[in-house]
Amino acid sequence: MSDYTPTREDKFSFGLWTVGWQGVDVFGTAVREPLDPVVAVHKLAELGAYGVTFHDNDLFPFGASAAERDQVIARFRKALDETGLVVPMATTNLFAHPIFKDGAFTANDRAVRRFAIRKVMENLDLAAELGAKTYVCWGGREGAESGAAKDVRAALDRMKEAFDILCSYVLDQGYDIRFAIEPKPNEPRGDILLPTIGHALAFIDQLEHPELVGLNPEVGHEEMAGMNFAHGIAQALWHGKLFHVDLNGQNGPRFDQDLRFGAGNLRGAFWTVDVLENGGYDGPRHFDYKPPRTEDMEGVWESARGCMRNYLILREKVRAFRSDPEVQEALRAAKLDELARPTLAAGETYQTLRDEDWPDATIEALAARGMAFERLDQLAMDYLLGVR
Ligand code: GCO
Ligand code: MN
Ligand code: MN
Repeated sequence: MSDYTPTREDKFSFGLWTVGWQGVDVFGTAVREPLDPVVAVHKLAELGAYGVTFHDNDLFPFGASAAERDQVIARFRKALDETGLVVPMATTNLFAHPIFKDGAFTANDRAVRRFAIRKVMENLDLAAELGAKTYVCWGGREGAESGAAKDVRAALDRMKEAFDILCSYVLDQGYDIRFAIEPKPNEPRGDILLPTIGHALAFIDQLEHPELVGLNPEVGHEEMAGMNFAHGIAQALWHGKLFHVDLNGQNGPRFDQDLRFGAGNLRGAFWTVDVLENGGYDGPRHFDYKPPRTEDMEGVWESARGCMRNYLILREKVRAFRSDPEVQEALRAAKLDELARPTLAAGETYQTLRDEDWPDATIEALAARGMAFERLDQLAMDYLLGVR
């Protein structure tokens, strides 16, 4: 058993807006002082993170002058150099300023859409400069509260147009950057476009450069929609589209809780770590959470530590589960090896199936056979509860 101290090899990263969240919500004002990004970088490095991510306006305010921007970036860059922290991902704030009240890429107002795409291009330049390989697009304001206000088909045309423009920009500049769409069902809009992993995957297929666009699914967002996050990211991996991931905690369908990773649906977190560790994902383990308003800065850092600690604890449990001979035997009893086998053998066709004889007794025997899933799941539960 380790002491769960994170190392750079664990690839933990945090958004500046997570530990820097001042606690402003719909019902209340800030409960914490602004956090200097330079302080955040040093503290995250000390806690064992390897990366830090940002929205343009986490670093410099909306409308900052070029001089102001340069000065802030120089300080940030110095902090990165001093700590060795990397910037694996960057993103754009297309939701806070009133100009984005009806969205950015899909705002009904054409001028807003033009401004939004330009804002992304500007920050793509910075992202490339800082070495980011993934550029997240979370369309929090792309949506509506009412029916006729948004023509969804036209809005999707505009969304596609935005991604096509941005992909050609990245290609023309020669940037080594791919986009990752972050789905969310609602909040802040009543209904958001591309609400789930599935919607986003289907949308990507329609783009001019689908190879440059993947996903950044967030635990809480899928669970707000009642979805199984581990299944969602497994499917994203199957499509080769899990470019990035936002880890946090959520208690079922309700407002976006953004709890620290491991809080909320703990069983879901176990299977999430299982998929990330065993499903071929090697990107950052990025935490996108909000330290609750109840916490002072001490509590903020405690929650950041908690995200990484919970991931490492779950990783240890997942590894133990997968390498346990009894589990392997239970997996066979549950026919996981059979699921991995093609339904038709080499040389067989649908005709083979048509020609097959199905005596009643065979059907009855199959129908009566138990699948032994409960034993398998209890073994996982025993690991999760710490008794095995
Ligand atoms: C949310 C989202 C946001 C985005 C982030 C990137 O909680 O609704 O996670 O935090 O991930 O702003 O644009
Ligand atoms: Mn969220
Ligand atoms: Mn997120």
